[in-house]
Amino acid sequence: MALPHPIPYQGSNRKLAPAIAPYLPEEISTFYEPFAGSGAMTIYAAHHRLASRFVVADSLAPIIDLLRAIVEEPEKTAARYRALWHGQTTRDGGYFNRVRDRYNKTGHHVDLLYLICRCVKNAVRFNRSGSFTQSVDKRRLGMHPDKMQGAILRVSAILRGRVEFPIGDWLETTADAMAADFLYMDPPPILAPPLAGTSDTISK
Ligand SMILES: C[S@@+](CC[C@H](N)C(=O)[O-])C[C@H]1O[C@@H](n2cnc3c(N)ncnc32)[C@H](O)[C@@H]1O
Repeated sequence: MALPHPIPYQGSNRKLAPAIAPYLPEEISTFYEPFAGSGAMTIYAAHHRLASRFVVADSLAPIIDLLRAIVEEPEKTAARYRALWHGQTTRDGGYFNRVRDRYNKTGHHVDLLYLICRCVKNAVRFNRSGSFTQSVDKRRLGMHPDKMQGAILRVSAILRGRVEFPIGDWLETTADAMAADFLYMDPPPILAPPLAGTSDTISK
């Protein structure tokens, strides 16, 4: 059965995880994912018992609030998503924008989940002041709440009791890592160094 993936974020490492996993060390005490996004690599590593503890962190507070709520309050989180999803109808073109406005005022994590599921190509976009700016995808309704509930319950079962969710810059959230731990880093391009051998490294 495919691994659960409740946050269908474009750029998630969900499909890459099985290809990346063979490069991980064999014994990991705590697996840190300081640029968590959807937490795909942590979900994979926890399911395959590649570490005993996990630190799932990000500088975007609502995404960590969401991951924490998925693990610690799965029923409540799934119910809130279900209510949001059923609130939309194909004829109410303003619904997505109202949820987006509310998210931009309150930063509510389940509003963010709905926006990720329903926005164009699941491609999350924020402006410089941190407001969610991506538009609605008019061709689909976003993940069905039954499928979402199943994914949330499974992720909770995989991670509950062995994970922490700090919010902040990666340097702060990994500061206590020790030699037996492993940091899995997938930063945004603006923070990532150029890869050796790519056109990024060729001086012009
Ligand atoms: C490329 S995405 C990670 C995607 C993730 N690997 C997945 O599978 O979904 C990068 C993430 O880094 C976060 N981020 C950006 N700058 C950061 C920083 N300085 N410290 C921690 N997280 C940061 C963003 O909020 C975003 O969630």
